[in-house]
Amino acid sequence: MLRDHALTAFSHKSAPLLALALLAGFAASPAGAQSAVAEGQKLAFDRGKGNCLTCHVIKGGDLPGTIGPELKDIKARFPDRNELVAILFDETRRNPQTMMPPFGRNRILTDKEISAIVDFLQTL
Ligand code: HEC
Repeated sequence: MLRDHALTAFSHKSAPLLALALLAGFAASPAGAQSAVAEGQKLAFDRGKGNCLTCHVIKGGDLPGTIGPELKDIKARFPDRNELVAILFDETRRNPQTMMPPFGRNRILTDKEISAIVDFLQTL
């Protein structure tokens, strides 16, 4: 339901302009970086969105599964954020057998949502 609503809101004509304005605001202020991290955490933990806790232990998340590795020391292990974006966009490129859903390719998450989650991952 929430998803349908979000999709409807985004198909509205002014949505791209609004998104640009928001992005410009984020880029301009350090508070923007903070809110991208908070938004990324929300998306990562949301059972209807990233749903990362189904498979990954993540600091601050409840009832994690252990199908994937614990997500920690991310910034040290993946200094290049593009690598994380690629993993989230489509992990089957690195590992065709992976259990991890191709969030970008399957449009489970938008590029902007993936970017916010990567900001959050880099704080782990
Ligand atoms: C259905 C299970 C599943 C879900 C859901 C899932 N992952 Fe994964 N993830 C995995 C598995 C399994 C791996 C191990 C690598 C592989 O299979 O290619 C992995 C690997 C990773 C890696 C690389 C970690 C490393 O140490 O190499 C990152 C980063 C990652 N996942 C982030 C996420 C994020 C963020 C989400 C939520 C948006 C997510 N995953 C959702 C199963 C999952």
